[in-house]
Amino acid sequence: MRILIACDHGAFDLKRKIVEHLAQNPENEIINLGVDGAESVDYPDYAQSLCRALLAGEGERGILLCGTGLGMSMAANRFNGIRGALCHDEYTARLSRQHNNANVLVLGARSTGEAVALGIVDTWMQTDFEGARHQRRLDKIENKG
Ligand code: RB5
Repeated sequence: MRILIACDHGAFDLKRKIVEHLAQNPENEIINLGVDGAESVDYPDYAQSLCRALLAGEGERGILLCGTGLGMSMAANRFNGIRGALCHDEYTARLSRQHNNANVLVLGARSTGEAVALGIVDTWMQTDFEGARHQRRLDKIENKG
């Protein structure tokens, strides 16, 4: 799967670990949209470039990280067609796929430890959308219901 990933300065270290983790699966192609250092940046710039690329078909899923995940989540969910899910555990990660068909996973590097984050990523990557009544509800979010 082609996965887009981006973060701000609050999360570059966790992003690097997630990239390394995902790269262990040869079926994954990871496209890193930055940042890769501690210099202060504005998270909306990175949320927006990832969401535009995802909507343009440059990847199938996206992962965004900032300090709390809150800013990235707010910025990503302004885009029609982006379903960003800020997850703090594997339960919400699984349900964000099964029920919400989340196409962007959002993580907070200052609120979620590395081991938990990697478990969230694995669960999120491996879980399928259940469709049916959940698609009807997503259509209502997109004003198609
Ligand atoms: C940056 O200091 C911080 O505000 C950002 O990473 C994120 O937590 C915003 O929601």
